[in-house]
Amino acid sequence: MLRESFGTDGRGNEAEAFILTNANGTQLKVTTLGAAIVSFIFKDKDGIMRDIVLGYDRAEAYLEQKGYYFGATVGRYANRISNARITINGVEYALEANSETNNLHSGSNGVSHKVWDVARVDEAGNSVTMQITSKDLEQGFPGNMQIKVTFTLTEDDAVKIDYEAVSDKDTVANFTNHSYFNLAGHDGGAVGGQRLKLYADAFTPLAPTLSIPTGEIRPVAGTPFDFTDFKEIGKEINDSCDQLVYAKGYDHNFVLKNHGELGLMAEAVCEDTGIHLYAYTDRPGVQLYTGNFIEEHEGKGGARYGERHGFCLEAQWFPDAVNNPAFEAPLLAAGEVYASTTVYRLKLD
Ligand code: BGC
Repeated sequence: MLRESFGTDGRGNEAEAFILTNANGTQLKVTTLGAAIVSFIFKDKDGIMRDIVLGYDRAEAYLEQKGYYFGATVGRYANRISNARITINGVEYALEANSETNNLHSGSNGVSHKVWDVARVDEAGNSVTMQITSKDLEQGFPGNMQIKVTFTLTEDDAVKIDYEAVSDKDTVANFTNHSYFNLAGHDGGAVGGQRLKLYADAFTPLAPTLSIPTGEIRPVAGTPFDFTDFKEIGKEINDSCDQLVYAKGYDHNFVLKNHGELGLMAEAVCEDTGIHLYAYTDRPGVQLYTGNFIEEHEGKGGARYGERHGFCLEAQWFPDAVNNPAFEAPLLAAGEVYASTTVYRLKLD
């Protein structure tokens, strides 16, 4: 395992990166800035090493492009919270309104943009654990919260992400990883031709323009949201249905069939490289976000990134579940341990 400097956060804190390699030569790079995945490199069907996630070379670039959350751990509450307000035990807490009137990914200066501490480096297990303390009311959320994320590179070419969090007050918790995948390589352009399968028969439609689910659970059958069998991501993405127009493509939560135990949430395939992604979670939902808002700019190694150059599979509780009585809210009682796992595994077809 290699450990190196990754730049600074502009507040005097040094960010580090760890490079984990397995016996197949598959390589995972993670940084303590935002506990983020920087690169995930895998040998394609022609023997070419492909880095299949978007990212930047240094911490400074991540902080310049904070709004994308490339590869980051998002918390304490991933996705949107309507009106940037939550109520816990009858007390209302105000959060940052950083996406119109709503809170997105807990605000613009949360744990995704801070340097985490290194808690454990396990050479034999090929894993790194990072931790951070999010203070009471730091992002508006109640409770001092100890958060830990462990990244493990397995011998079967998976990155396993284990989240753990404990708060000293009743609060909410909903952590995700915000990697943007491009199975043609991070510099491979738009992902519309890559095929996707989701383990979901329903999705949660959004209210017009607000990007907040209405509470309806709508079957995907007969709609552009039907990914129950493999389908090109771009096949119906420009359909004129109102849901795709609101979000400029897919930016929706899907209701997973499996909930509570680690199970498949999605698979994706790129025919050109033969790279097949298997994604697993124990959460009830997954946000499919097709990079609709990525503006043209420079990424790792001078690559040009732009609109729809990556897709995210963000394992999560449903967006705004803390305010929507139709959804189960991810409350975390004081002292209770939040534990969740996400796995992204690569294989050749
Ligand atoms: C959200 C998008 C947002 C993106 C980057 C995704 O999780 O669903 O609406 O643009 O994150 O912040």
